Amino acid sequence: MSAANLVMQSYGRCCASPDFFDSFYRHFLASSPLIREKFVDTDMSAQKQLLRQGILNLVMHARGMPDTKLRALGESHSRQHLDIRPELYDLWLDALLATIGEHDKECDAEVRQAWREVLNKGIAVIKAGY
Ligand code: HEM
Repeated sequence: MSAANLVMQSYGRCCASPDFFDSFYRHFLASSPLIREKFVDTDMSAQKQLLRQGILNLVMHARGMPDTKLRALGESHSRQHLDIRPELYDLWLDALLATIGEHDKECDAEVRQAWREVLNKGIAVIKAGY
């Protein structure tokens, strides 16, 4: 199965796990004071819904969808707006992979590698807008 399809199925299992997004933000916020600082004024329950869609955009991009949505994220996260420095995406990726490992019972080395491939491709588009 292609990486994009492995990821699509894994993401379906993650989204079916009720506290997947709570766990993600627990991991992500714990990873650095720089991250916590960025979210001090954020409504986290709204943020979890936005991220659900954001990850879907990354997955759909790997399945061939044009990069319009990811470029818009690149713009909102750029130095002129949210100012998310490129190295912070490493923490984001580590937090997401750790969360997937906990919530997708079928996650193995192949699924993990597929996620890395898919996410790195989309994250490159977002970072290019910095
Ligand atoms: C807002 C997705 C990485 C911090 C958002 C939004 C989405 C999103 C969909 C809301 C819409 C928008 O502002 O464009 C993603 C995705 C990421 C990512 C898919 C990874 C590929 C990061 C990283 C940080 C970050 C690494 C670092 C702290 C923020 C902040 C907001 C935001 C501070 C605004 C929160 C608020 O409204 O108060 N993100 N993001 N994001 N993101 Fe990200």
